[in-house]
Amino acid sequence: MIPSGHTAVMASRREPPDALDFFPTPPWATRALLSHVLALSSDEFLSSSAWDPCCGEGHMVGPLQEYFWAVEETDVFDYGKGFAVSDFLADDERTADWLITNPPFKIAEAVALRALDRAKVGVAMLVRSVWLEGTGRYERLFRDRPPTTIAQFCERVPMTKGRWDPDASTATSYAWIVWRMTEQLAAPTFTWIPPGCRRALTRPTDIVRFAARSAAAPLLPAAK
Ligand SMILES: C[S@@+](CC[C@H](N)C(=O)[O-])C[C@H]1O[C@@H](n2cnc3c(N)ncnc32)[C@H](O)[C@@H]1O
Repeated sequence: MIPSGHTAVMASRREPPDALDFFPTPPWATRALLSHVLALSSDEFLSSSAWDPCCGEGHMVGPLQEYFWAVEETDVFDYGKGFAVSDFLADDERTADWLITNPPFKIAEAVALRALDRAKVGVAMLVRSVWLEGTGRYERLFRDRPPTTIAQFCERVPMTKGRWDPDASTATSYAWIVWRMTEQLAAPTFTWIPPGCRRALTRPTDIVRFAARSAAAPLLPAAK
């Protein structure tokens, strides 16, 4: 939901309110999901659609477009990238084969529940590993909708507020949580995303594509 004090009519502002939790995903972390965790065949990728409903400036959308046949991107805030503006928790009735996102921490559970309603094939969410714990979240989400796969990054996935900084570091641990609608397992499969992904899956063109900001927002040092 839009934080109090803000409205959906935010198209003229490019610097998002802090409450929207804009922490762009390093492109390699999305490629790690696609190549190491989902590991769909090229036929499956080329016949499937994906949607990032909290897309920010498109740091996840770009890598998704490298694999999927069609990619949709929406965000509650207009970052000036031409993406549709939509509050995923309020009014978005779109569907896609895969819903894939890095949700704001505070609404990640609501995003997961809504994504599970909108996805035809599966949902993948990049979350802090500690998001897996918590009695309330277990009762409201994991007990009745257990994920199919939990994929823990061996490497850290540094995220900085407001922009992708390729040289950043972090003490926070991240994992991809994946639900496949067709597989109702009693217990999730746990796997590791192996070391070396950051180097192997970062492309030379990523700096130009993703590290430069179009908006004049400052680089804030806080790590997510
Ligand atoms: C952690 S950032 C991730 C951005 C992008 N998915 C990425 O990985 O680079 C979270 C994003 O969620 C967006 N957001 C927050 N609340 C939302 C809502 N209710 N509906 C849609 N997007 C929302 C924020 O504007 C922000 O861009």
